[in-house]
Amino acid sequence: MDYQGMRTYRRFHQEPVPEAVLGEMMENVRIASCAKNDQPLIYTVVRSAEMVKAMQPLVKWAAALPKELGTPVEGEQPTAFVVIAKSERAVPLSDIDVGIAVNTLAATAWEHKVGSCIMASINAPKIQELLAIPEGYKVRLVLALGYPSHKSTVVELKDSLDYYLDEERNYYVPKRALEDIVTYK
Ligand SMILES: Cc1cc2nc3c(=O)[nH]c(=O)nc-3n(C[C@H](O)[C@H](O)[C@H](O)COP(=O)(O)O)c2cc1C
Repeated sequence: MDYQGMRTYRRFHQEPVPEAVLGEMMENVRIASCAKNDQPLIYTVVRSAEMVKAMQPLVKWAAALPKELGTPVEGEQPTAFVVIAKSERAVPLSDIDVGIAVNTLAATAWEHKVGSCIMASINAPKIQELLAIPEGYKVRLVLALGYPSHKSTVVELKDSLDYYLDEERNYYVPKRALEDIVTYK
C-alpha cells in the first residue's frame, strides 16, 4: 500500500470512478471493524452526473487556502462522492467507526489510484435532503473521489502545519517528525 501517496486530493480528471472500484470500497467498508460490532453506519454512493453536480456546492474545500486556489472549478471537480451517515441511536464510540470507515474507503480507492478528500465541512442537512437519507440517520462525513490531476507531497514540518501549493497548485503537506510523536519503551 502506497501510504506516502495516499494524500488528500482536491482536483481531478473528469473520468468516472469505475463501478468495480466503488463496489470493492463498499465491500471492504461493509466488513470494517466497529465498536461492539454495532454497525451504525450507512453509505450513499453518489455517481450519477446529475447527483454529483448537485453535491458540488454542498461541500467546502481547503480551509487553509484562498477559495480561488483550494476550490476545484468545473472540469476539476470530483467525479463521485460517498456519504457516510450514522444512526442517531449509535453508541458514543461510534464516531471512531466513522473514522475507520472513511479510511477504509480512501485506502481501497487509492489501491486503484483513485484519490480522495475526506470532507467534514459540509452542508449536512441539504445533503440529507438531496439524497433522501432516511430519518434516524445523520450525515457525518463525505468522501470526494476522482483520479487526481495534481501531486501532493509530504514535507518536513518547519514553522507551520498549514499545507501550501506551488505555482502549478501541487500540494505540500508538512507532517510532524517521528521522534516528536513516537516513543518506544
Ligand atoms: C476529519 C477530516 C475532515 C476533513 N474535512 C475537510 C474538508 O471539509 N474540506 C477539505 O478540503 N479537506 C478536508 N480534510 C482534509 C484535510 O485538510 C487533510 O487531510 C489535511 O490537510 C492533511 O493532508 P493529507 O490528507 O494529504 O495528509 C479533512 C480531513 C479529515 C481527516
